[in-house]
Amino acid sequence: MKNQKRYTVTAALPYANGPLHLGHIAGCYLPADIYVRYLKGKGNDAVFVCGSDEHGAAITLRAKKENTTPQHIVDTNHKIIKTAFEDFGIDFDVYHRTSSELHHETASEMFKEMHEKGAFIEQTTEQFYDEENKQFLADRYIVGTCPKCSYDGAYGDQCEKCGSTLSPTELINPTSTISGNSPILKETTHWFLPMNDHEKWLKEWIETGKLEGEQQHDPATWRKQVLGQCKSWIDNGLLPRSITRDLDWGIKVPVEGGDGKVLYVWFDAPIGYISATKKWAADNNKNWEDYWKNEETELVHFIGKDNIVFHAIIFPIILKSQGDYILPTNVPANEFLNLEGDKISTSRNWAVWLHEYLADFPNKEDELRYVLTAIAPETKDSEFTWKDYQLRVNSELVAIFGNFVNRSVVLTHKYYDGLVPALGTLSDYDKEVIAALTTTQEKVDDLLSKFKFRDAQTEAMNLARIGNKYLADTEPWKLIKTDEERVKTIMNIALQISNTLSIVFEPFLPKISEKLKRILNSNSTELAAGHQINKAELLFQKIEDEAIEAQVEKLKSTTVQQSNPKAKPMKDEITFDEFTKMDIRVGTILTAEKHPDADKLLKMTVDTGIDVRTVVSGIAAHYKPEDIIGTQVSVLINLAPRKIRGIESQGMILMAENNEGSLAFVSPEKAIDNGGEVR
Ligand code: 2FM
Ligand code: ZN
Repeated sequence: MKNQKRYTVTAALPYANGPLHLGHIAGCYLPADIYVRYLKGKGNDAVFVCGSDEHGAAITLRAKKENTTPQHIVDTNHKIIKTAFEDFGIDFDVYHRTSSELHHETASEMFKEMHEKGAFIEQTTEQFYDEENKQFLADRYIVGTCPKCSYDGAYGDQCEKCGSTLSPTELINPTSTISGNSPILKETTHWFLPMNDHEKWLKEWIETGKLEGEQQHDPATWRKQVLGQCKSWIDNGLLPRSITRDLDWGIKVPVEGGDGKVLYVWFDAPIGYISATKKWAADNNKNWEDYWKNEETELVHFIGKDNIVFHAIIFPIILKSQGDYILPTNVPANEFLNLEGDKISTSRNWAVWLHEYLADFPNKEDELRYVLTAIAPETKDSEFTWKDYQLRVNSELVAIFGNFVNRSVVLTHKYYDGLVPALGTLSDYDKEVIAALTTTQEKVDDLLSKFKFRDAQTEAMNLARIGNKYLADTEPWKLIKTDEERVKTIMNIALQISNTLSIVFEPFLPKISEKLKRILNSNSTELAAGHQINKAELLFQKIEDEAIEAQVEKLKSTTVQQSNPKAKPMKDEITFDEFTKMDIRVGTILTAEKHPDADKLLKMTVDTGIDVRTVVSGIAAHYKPEDIIGTQVSVLINLAPRKIRGIESQGMILMAENNEGSLAFVSPEKAIDNGGEVR
């Protein structure tokens, strides 16, 4: 075969803190799998590596919540994820783990080599520290109010409400999620990747594809959103980025001064691609360095859009700083997949889980592959709905692809005992259809080589449409009575189309292609006259309404229903003990007047059953003082007193807030004695 090349293809290591959903599959793993099947089908030497990403604070946090160990969390999820990939037909050459010894050694070695080369700087900075638990707090362990949108459940690294990337010191009222206390700032020393030193070559490399004068990649083949994100990062100026953390779960920092510190998960995770390749090479008698250190090898990273900076900026800096490694020739990142009109959310369980799909739709892996490729979020976010899934399976796979192949095979058995008839004289229409066999293969290959999976599959499907139409137009079942010779030509052509379908669909629908090859009893690009084919079997079956309704029902019933999309997301879970610390009582407002110095505030006295106290509250825009005297309300009475515009407020009246910001008292629905507990 001509033009054989060596490829290392990686797919983002999924976090081992939960199972896979369709968003992960459409975003990264399916296109990567299609690409590798295509490369291998063309005779290239490609290795497809992946594995579980098992470090990081998200996993330790989860272990803490569930009262178990991080190792237990990753062991459980690694198994679920690996099995789901296998069952779905994502055909990695190796699915490794970052908690493995080989990975620890590899990442550690990489750090040491870079350290020796002076690739890092050490910096002492102030980081949040939980005095009660005597530990530095990873970004995820700190919550507070987002400085951008005021959401009060933002994490130290990100606000999940408005999506802003944050640093912990930007949070307003930061709180440790471990103790609930306000953390203090304490000095700690870390190793940083001086990304600013790499700006010049990175900019040239991203924009022109040139690295040290050599053309290393072609930016015209990179997706616009990938180039756009990289350019905007570089144009905004890169900063040194810390690559170690004060944490006890991860890869120990292997140099002096590293006690109690581990490598940052985003430093070790991409190195996971290298350790996975090492594992595969050792098991398959290969040299891993050919796949990472040989300039003739193409390195391609498949990822979702949230991982762009790590794969197109940070990891290339790591690889280049070490010095011996190649850089990616492409980073085909996908956008996000939405689900039934909403963003996929694991916390709200608004997701279709891959392992559940496989259990609910046995042997329908390729149907899902087809639909997810047809709607792949390659250039913008796209949406999966169960109705659309049903429609694409029934009206495209069943009604066109399956129907065409079935007719071709059944008629060949009926007229010729399953022997491929010879071609006779060709009409213009025949010639046109025969030409489509070659052009389809060329177009599909060309689009796949350009990472245009969606268009490539559409081209492949168009060939099935051409075939279906050809039979409908020529009606061999009628002609057989009047023109037997002509029918031989038609059936030969129909069978060649079926055979080509089994080839062009190989990367997209591997199981169906295999089945079709079995039916056609063929492994070659053409069917010779006289070739014996096997009996027809249905390639696809209709998806019934009930199956779809059941899925929609399941999604809705297992989801935390969001009737109000503007409602703020749930705050972090608290224990019952934490809840009971709040002393909330029913009280009656005795007096109310406007605060002398602030328009928005009312000053009230409230009978709490235990005492009569003054409470100041920002409700003047919502209630007139004279209207609320005698109203029963809920009062948080053990809140530390606070001076509000000069008046001490001894507690807080609970208010419910509407989307538009209007406020209402949270009052008992029937009269309750003052002092009655709210719990
Ligand atoms: O975003 C994620 O799911 C990360 N676990 C991806 C890691 S990709 C690579 F660097 F390993
Ligand atoms: Zn925010």
